[in-house]
Amino acid sequence: MSKLSLDRILQSQGYGTRKYCRSLIEDGEVSIGGVVHDNYKASIETDGLILTIFDEEWVYREHLYLALHKPANFECSRKPSHHPGVLTLLPEQFSWREVQPVGRLDHDTTGMLLMSDDGPFIHAQSSPKRHVPKIYQATTQEPVTDELVAQLLSGVQLHDEPAPLAAQTCVKRGEHQLEIVLEQGKYHQVKRMLAAAGNHCSALHRSAIGTLTLESLGIAEGEWCYLTPEQLAMLAPAA
Ligand code: URA
Repeated sequence: MSKLSLDRILQSQGYGTRKYCRSLIEDGEVSIGGVVHDNYKASIETDGLILTIFDEEWVYREHLYLALHKPANFECSRKPSHHPGVLTLLPEQFSWREVQPVGRLDHDTTGMLLMSDDGPFIHAQSSPKRHVPKIYQATTQEPVTDELVAQLLSGVQLHDEPAPLAAQTCVKRGEHQLEIVLEQGKYHQVKRMLAAAGNHCSALHRSAIGTLTLESLGIAEGEWCYLTPEQLAMLAPAA
């Protein structure tokens, strides 16, 4: 159980500055259970709280845990330079809440991107010590050979790495298709590993993190969804 004043609640949900949230409340734009609440000092229980703001229902969430099906030509950077940022694919309130990507995908990579406003979660999930498998589907310019698969499994040396990096698993899925599972999340890792092994990655898609697959989430490119505690548990390192 935890109570907060109504203006703090609105602010925590990303509805803007405290001053603006107070004005929304005083203007009668906020109701709970069909009753308009126009006193911003009112202390409200947040557990299970559903607000109606501008005639739209809003479920109170202390933190946000989301999965986005990232399309190509969106940047994960906070200050995107050449393409729109992934935050533009989410409701405006989420930017106010400082939602950020958990790790990054290149602008041309598609697939599952986790996003959250929970700092410790982001930190824990992106820690190099946490060996969460990330499953990628790579399209290669040259045909996938047994030798390429063997090289990626035994490890390839990248320029700025002290030791060779190896795929956890690597399976040929087609003449130019490779499924590669990595536990690390180094910069451009799949593309650089493929280049170091003498091939070239022409397209890349992240299909799963841990045992949580994008397919199971049923979201199309550009769509996002909230993650349930059960789905979050599936992002755990391999046992
Ligand atoms: N590896 C890459 O090369 N790019 C990505 O976006 C993710 C992993």
